Amino acid sequence: MKPAAALLCLAVLALAVGASSVDTHHRQLDQRAALERSAPFYPSPWMNPDADGWKEAYAEAKKFVSQMTLLEKVNLTTGIGWASEQCVGNVGAIPRLGLRSLCMQDAPVGVRGTDFNSVFPSGQTAAATFDRTLIYRRGFAMGKEAKGKGVNVLLGPVAGPLGRMPAAGRNWEGFSPDPVLTGVGMAESIKGIQDAGVIACAKHFIANEQEHFRTPGDPVKEALSSNIDDKTMHELYLWPFADAVRAGVGSVMCSYQQVNNSYACQNSKILNNLLKDELGFQGFVMSDWSAQHTGVASAVAGLDMTMPGDTEFNTGISFWGTNLTLGVLNGTVPAYRIDDMAMRIMAAFFKVSKSIELDPINFSFWTSDTYGPLHWEAKKDYQQINYHVDVRADHGNLIREIAAKGTVLLKNTGSLPLKKPKFVAVIGEDAGPNPNGPNSCGDRGCNSGTLGVGWGSGTANYPYLVTPDAALQAQAVQDGSRYESILSNYATSQTQALVSQANVTAIVFANANSGEAYITVDGNMGDRKNLTLWNNGDALIKHVAAHCANTIVVIHSVGPVLLTDWHANPNITAILWAGLPGQESGNSITDVLYGKVNPAGRSPFTWGATRESYGPDIMYTPNNGADAPQQDFTEGVFIDYRHFDRTPATSPDNKVLYPFGHGLSYTSFSYRNLRITKSHPSTYTPTTGQTAKAPTFGAFSPNPKDYLFPSDQFPYLRHFIYPYLNSSDPRTASLDPHYGQSAAQFLPPHATDDSSQPLLRASGGRSPGGNRGLYDVLWDVTAEVTNTGKIIGEEVPQLYLSLPGEGQPKVVLRGFEKVRIDPGQTVEFRVRVTRRDVSEWDVGVQDWVVREGVKRVWVGRSSRELELEGVLP
Ligand code: BGC
Repeated sequence: MKPAAALLCLAVLALAVGASSVDTHHRQLDQRAALERSAPFYPSPWMNPDADGWKEAYAEAKKFVSQMTLLEKVNLTTGIGWASEQCVGNVGAIPRLGLRSLCMQDAPVGVRGTDFNSVFPSGQTAAATFDRTLIYRRGFAMGKEAKGKGVNVLLGPVAGPLGRMPAAGRNWEGFSPDPVLTGVGMAESIKGIQDAGVIACAKHFIANEQEHFRTPGDPVKEALSSNIDDKTMHELYLWPFADAVRAGVGSVMCSYQQVNNSYACQNSKILNNLLKDELGFQGFVMSDWSAQHTGVASAVAGLDMTMPGDTEFNTGISFWGTNLTLGVLNGTVPAYRIDDMAMRIMAAFFKVSKSIELDPINFSFWTSDTYGPLHWEAKKDYQQINYHVDVRADHGNLIREIAAKGTVLLKNTGSLPLKKPKFVAVIGEDAGPNPNGPNSCGDRGCNSGTLGVGWGSGTANYPYLVTPDAALQAQAVQDGSRYESILSNYATSQTQALVSQANVTAIVFANANSGEAYITVDGNMGDRKNLTLWNNGDALIKHVAAHCANTIVVIHSVGPVLLTDWHANPNITAILWAGLPGQESGNSITDVLYGKVNPAGRSPFTWGATRESYGPDIMYTPNNGADAPQQDFTEGVFIDYRHFDRTPATSPDNKVLYPFGHGLSYTSFSYRNLRITKSHPSTYTPTTGQTAKAPTFGAFSPNPKDYLFPSDQFPYLRHFIYPYLNSSDPRTASLDPHYGQSAAQFLPPHATDDSSQPLLRASGGRSPGGNRGLYDVLWDVTAEVTNTGKIIGEEVPQLYLSLPGEGQPKVVLRGFEKVRIDPGQTVEFRVRVTRRDVSEWDVGVQDWVVREGVKRVWVGRSSRELELEGVLP
């Protein structure tokens, strides 16, 4: 928005319509101005060695860091450069103290870029299980595999994107547009990963909601800015990260794009204020790959580790490394800050591992060859670099179970479960293999054959991929069924001839794919271009349904697709969303179709009728010339079901085909007896007091001569990032034309202040995740759920609240449980409603408040099937 234009239109308005609209307009301009700018917050909060869950780790870290030299500390914070060693990111080793280079590796569905690893169902599919235990077990198994390869930081789980826009390319890596469900997904995954001995990395912090313009580059000079107001930030986007911090996450990855026009990796508001101060995060912040844009500025804004270390891939120069050493020597980076970085990294390390003696990294991300250069970019040190270690254990069974239990039965008029059907016809490319092999496209950057994961850095190589065709055929043979498949979406006449035959059960498979921006598939630059099925999928489904009265549809997709044209067709007797199931795809869907697993998945997002009805959408064309595109999150907390519920009931945009939380079972359930007990009368106590003064550990020589590259000890590797100076003249060493400016000239006020600081009232003091009082249980809500059918089944009762106060959604999810119930049995569903659950963020007070007014509680089977209603007393 151009200020001059805005003022002109204000003047015209004032003349035309009088004072009150002018006030409104003023308010809008103020809001706009607030969104355009991120408030500074300094100094960067230092760790609290007494924080709950971190005490022992910090005691170990202190012993270690106290022995470190400045060069060693810098080495620990700075990546050694893209492809310099085996992992997608490595930091420098500390050989003197026995610590090898730490290995950072992707992540969201399995260890990326290696072999003999598993490919797990996506985060979104795991979310669809609504099953805390399965999500934990998935995290634990992924952590074990990473550990078995020598990985130290597993670059997941994902809560950004949250899923503001259904077409966003990486939504599938995360969990759900609902912050509570995503929060559970984050916390359980983190506990699992870290219990397996690997540091988890909650990413991408924050508001990384689309792929287009996430980084600067043609046609924009600066990355997109996600402009979010404080209330929306707290109530929506920050919520799952609070759960991650509370679960003890060891690292957080700051994202590529800007937040309120300040790059996420140098944004003091989000890193210093929200993450480290308010949430009390005690681990380290790592940059996304090349998401760092400044040296000293990012250090004082709260960044602790730069990845992969070089300014851009393989430049051989870094914002940190040499420059961080210089920054500390000349005082622009306060000494406490480098110590805090090292302490945070080592505390996260000791939180998950007892010893600094680590197993070697036994793979190279850069090649599948057994022998090759250890230092890939420099092409130095030829040796065995891939040991092909099989880390899969029995994870195949778990993967099969998660994908089956994350499959959502959207519609079933009675054709399912299948029982020895006479004749099964399977139709569609998505049921079959990629003819070139499941790993033929790098980072899965194509859409051929059945869709098991999306594309991008969030992928892994398949050890095998069980196709639906293979598994369904095996089942048919076992049952004595007749079986035929047509694994093409374009064999129109052959398909018609097949599905028109007598006794046929036709199962049509179709998909929709997306991924990360560095790969474009069929014109989709990460983000989807539309919400329709790919490769003629809709036409295929309609074609089969036109000729077969028992058509079952299975969709593999990265999020919602438009089912509008055909979902109500009576010939379509069942619709299943099988998400992104990973390597056991065919087995999982067979288990569900044949009732070996009673469908228990629930949709982690809403199925709208049109793309437009979802509200906010991807920005495909920059709206600010070559400057940073401005994406205003003006819808506030109203995304997904909250948005649909807000549109007037009479509007076509209110229409939802299948609501958030919806999913059928082969049995049925009834709900009754909602009981609410007030359980905790305690009052909320804002945190008060002061931090300690910033601690420092160990002195260092101020003389640049002591930091020169020790060329007598080892050779200089091409493009490797070191902490050393190349010259005892700081200006020459820095390669920075502006070298010599004092901190005061370019750093914001208080950026180097190491004195004791006031604690924020919303912060938790010693307790990570925010003020402890937020997690006090205020009400105990129970309901009874009965299995009224004939077979065992799992139900997901869900608790929603309607909160008083301005700008609150009609209902918000606050609790759920996966319960297994025998036929005829009743179980109690229970949710402990916390203060956080009923609070809203007060921008003026800068704290959570519970508003006066009626707080309604609902228990039901989805966001729009609310069976029981009550009021919180
Ligand atoms: C992605 C991250 C990933 C990193 C390393 C980046 O492009 O945004 O999610 O962890 O690359 O592969």
